[in-house]
Amino acid sequence: MDLLVVGSGFFGLTIAERAAAAGRKVTVIDRRAHIGGNAYSEADPETGIEVHRYGAHLFHTSNPTVWEYVNRFTTFTNYVHRVYTHHKDVVYPMPVNLGTINQFFQAAYSPSEARALIKEQAGEFDVKTAQNFEEKGIALVGRPLFEAFFRDYTAKQWQTDPHKLSGDIVSRLPVRYTYDNRYFNDTWEGLPTEGYTAWLERMADHPNIEVKLGVDYFDETQPLNKKATVGQLPIVYTGPVDRYFDYAEGALSWRTLDFEQEVLNTTDFQGTSVMNYPDLDVPFTRIHEFKHFHPERKDIFAQEKTVIMREFSRFANQEDEPYYPVNTPSDRDGLLAYRELAKGEQDVHFGGRLGTYQYLDMHMAIGSALSMWRNDLAGQDD
Ligand code: FAD
Ligand code: NA
Repeated sequence: MDLLVVGSGFFGLTIAERAAAAGRKVTVIDRRAHIGGNAYSEADPETGIEVHRYGAHLFHTSNPTVWEYVNRFTTFTNYVHRVYTHHKDVVYPMPVNLGTINQFFQAAYSPSEARALIKEQAGEFDVKTAQNFEEKGIALVGRPLFEAFFRDYTAKQWQTDPHKLSGDIVSRLPVRYTYDNRYFNDTWEGLPTEGYTAWLERMADHPNIEVKLGVDYFDETQPLNKKATVGQLPIVYTGPVDRYFDYAEGALSWRTLDFEQEVLNTTDFQGTSVMNYPDLDVPFTRIHEFKHFHPERKDIFAQEKTVIMREFSRFANQEDEPYYPVNTPSDRDGLLAYRELAKGEQDVHFGGRLGTYQYLDMHMAIGSALSMWRNDLAGQDD
């Protein structure tokens, strides 16, 4: 074995694939029972509908290197992501755009009229002197839009009373003064034609790659554990950085999500893939309806059934799946301390969203793995 990769998410698999192509023998371990990290998906057994087990994953990128690379393993559908929001029994397009504004104010404002209105409403507070999340949000988009579409949705994401949220969690709030409601504005976007798991498996499908599932790097009864391997060969570690150092500098804080999945005896529940619920009287933040991610598969999917998933958001405990870094000032100090410790680890390379305590979209995880391979691991002969 020439390289050990801890974690089989997009970061770890990209490193493994590049190393294998360069002739290295690579072992990938993952403590889960499946490859792919959070991008993993599987067909719901009852309906055949592809369900993203760790939350809906939409691929998008403007990076030509990443786009060329991912197309070696999968083609992409022409799916274009759009999100709607269900506020006080009316559905509006998201992100907040001219369509949302005109529907909300029952008006026909032009872009410049809408801009002038929002500017006037935002004058209630000044961004520079705003005391908390609420004042800052109003300073950015005005009270009516803030209260309808941002205040309570954000409070639900943080499970915190909106009046107790800090202004630091927002620097801007998206408002578009056109009718464009495409969610992403990247050059390329789409879903893997045969699903995420087929794509992830193809990355690992190389005679030089061995994948071992159900193996935790910190379990000393396993031969490939931290104690037995550090210093013996190059290691790419994509698990949580604080866990690697036994929380010596404290636990970094994360938000997690809880998912409630349900099969319904109806052909179409909500007419779209993602519906946000920004009001406090509903406990979840969104509902995903997976069949809408793949309209081209409608003949394969069950006709009279659909799979929905309600998403709830909260602070993570140590035993929860870490999803989004909270990034408080003390987290930032902790991260700097862990980065110092990481420098002292012989030939251990920390990568991915958990290893760097950073939210990374898939294209960013892949792009950063390609850079790590080129800069730190490939060497001159590759
Ligand atoms: P991960 O996928 O988390 O992989 C890390 C792997 O390491 C895991 O499989 C884990 O089991 C393993 N591991 C951890 N500890 C150990 C250990 N001790 N021993 C062995 N293995 C271990 N990106 C997009 O581009 N579009 C989206 O729409 C999108 N939606 C998202 C929605 C949610 C809810 C979340 C959380 C993320 C979303 N992402 C999205 C981001 C995407 O999931 C990440 O970019 C991707 O997961 C990053 O890959 P990674 O390899 O860094 O981490
Ligand atoms: Na203002």
